[in-house]
Formats: sequence, C-alpha cells, structure tokens
Amino acid sequence: MDNALVMEGRYAVVTGSTRGIGRAMAGVLARHGCNLVVSSRNPGDCEAAAKELAAEHGVRTVGIACDVSVRSAVCDMFEEISEWSEGRLDVLICNAGFPLRDDIFNTPLDATPADKLEEWYLGVFRTDTMGSVFCTYEALPLMLARGRGSIIYVSSIPALAGYQGAPYTVAKAGILGLMKDIAREYGRSSIRANALALGNIRTRATYDLLDAATRRLFAEQAPLQRWGLPEEVAEAALFLASDKSGFITGQTLVVDGGVVRW
Ligand SMILES: NC(=O)c1ccc[n+]([C@@H]2O[C@H](COP(=O)([O-])OP(=O)(O)OC[C@H]3O[C@@H](n4cnc5c(N)ncnc54)[C@H](OP(=O)(O)O)[C@@H]3O)[C@@H](O)[C@H]2O)c1
Repeated sequence: MDNALVMEGRYAVVTGSTRGIGRAMAGVLARHGCNLVVSSRNPGDCEAAAKELAAEHGVRTVGIACDVSVRSAVCDMFEEISEWSEGRLDVLICNAGFPLRDDIFNTPLDATPADKLEEWYLGVFRTDTMGSVFCTYEALPLMLARGRGSIIYVSSIPALAGYQGAPYTVAKAGILGLMKDIAREYGRSSIRANALALGNIRTRATYDLLDAATRRLFAEQAPLQRWGLPEEVAEAALFLASDKSGFITGQTLVVDGGVVRW
C-alpha cells in the first residue's frame, strides 16, 4: 500500500478540527490525500482552516460550523456534508470535547457543590458523549449505504484509570461504551469503530494554561517523561482511519507516553 497517499480520494469529518488535536488530525489526513470537513462552533475558524488545508494539500475541503452538543445542529451539518460529498463518508472522527475547566474537571465527587452536580456532569456528557452519539447517528446511514467506514472516538486515560473529577471520566468512559457497541453492531457492514485514549497532549486547552511546575509534573507522570504532540495523536488516528488497520475494530489505542500500561 502506498504510504504517501493512503487516504487518497476518501472523505472524512473531524469534529473540533479548527485547533489542537483535531486540527492536527485534519492536517495529517489531508496530507495523505483525504477530502475533509472541518468543524467547530466558530464559522470563521472553520472556513479559515478549510481554506488552509485545501491550499496546502490540494484536497477538497469545507468548513461547517456546528456545536456537536446540539442535535439539530449536527443534523444540519450532515445534511450539508451529504450534499457536498454526494453521499460519501469514509471516516468520522468524534474529537470535539468540552473545554477544560478546572472546577468541573478537578473536583472530587464529595466536594462538588450540590447545585452544580447535574450541570457539571450533564454538561460534559452532552458535548463529549452525546455529541459522539449524534454524529455517529447521522454518519451511519452514509456509511451503511456504501458498505464501509471507520469511526474514531476520542477518549482519555481517566476513562481507563479514573481521575480526581468524575464528569470528564464518566463522559469519556461513555464514549468507550458507544465505540464497543458500534463495533459489535456494524462490523457485519464493514464499519469499524475504535477509540484513542489520550494522555497529556500539548494543546492550547491543556499545556498552554499551566504553569511551568505543573507542566513538568504532568510530563513526569509518563515513562517517556514528556507531553505528547497533537501530530503524534494524528498519526495514530490516520492508522485507525486507513485500511492499514482493516482488521482492527472495537479497540482502544492508548496514546499517553506509557502512563497506562495494561
Ligand atoms: N489535550 C489533551 O491533553 C487531551 C487529553 C485527553 C483527551 N483530550 C481530548 O482531545 C480532544 C481535543 O482536545 P484539544 O486539547 O485539542 O482541545 P482544543 O485545543 O481546545 O480544541 C478543541 C476543538 O473542539 C472545538 N469544540 C469545542 N467544543 C465544541 C463543541 N461543543 N462542538 C464542536 N466543536 C467544539 C473547538 O473549537 P470551538 O471552541 O471554536 O468550538 C476546537 O476546535 C477533546 O475531546 C479532549 O477531551 C485531550
């Protein structure tokens, strides 16, 4: 298989792809010849990223603004996608996630204010988990019609090992349940589903918000003693998106520098 254009002519949607990990995934897929739907909540950012990718890699791109936590917005986005790609969709990457918030992400359950309990848990769940459900629901008919597809969910190592604040852990574990179900149910239609469980990856949402001591502490959690780069996650996503992982489904690929070792 030609390494240079392993995704040539394919069509992919990456949610949350205007910056960070999603943007790197879009870049790597485009570099390998994949046509792309770039998406986030900000229309200007979507358009700018889509234009950049098309100019840099010579693939077809479109930017579509969509808040994945809003069901009607996801429906509208997929209607537009279907028209744009003439019904083709080979890859869906559910990457958009609730923005990191220290209070929501780092408060143990017993310390969570009673009046925030539902808001915090349902807020993260709605974006990360239901956003993935909504996108998968709309993508499945397109993939089923063509008898193929690869869906990649973006989870996190707290879903495997626990953490100090459960809203994020619960939402990211829910994504793994969704992934297993889709893999089991749609394997017979040649639709694969896998997940990435990420450790500390250097983005604006994480690294850029921390002081030097905390950055160092997080780096030292990993046997590799450093933060991961969005491009390293993107290479793992490329593998799961492409036919090179054709017999792999229902799996969680941990990309964390070795923190989780089972
Ligand atoms: N970085 C890490 O260390 C790390 C570790 C584990 C897991 N993850 C997961 O990796 C994914 C990407 O994280 P990142 O660090 O790359 O974050 P990021 O740099 O903040 O990028 C997030 C992207 O998602 C978009 N987005 C946010 N909320 C959205 C929504 N409701 N609907 C649609 N798009 C939305 C953002 O654009 P707008 O804000 O303009 O919409 C942006 O394009 C997330 O699912 C995150 O939980 C990251």
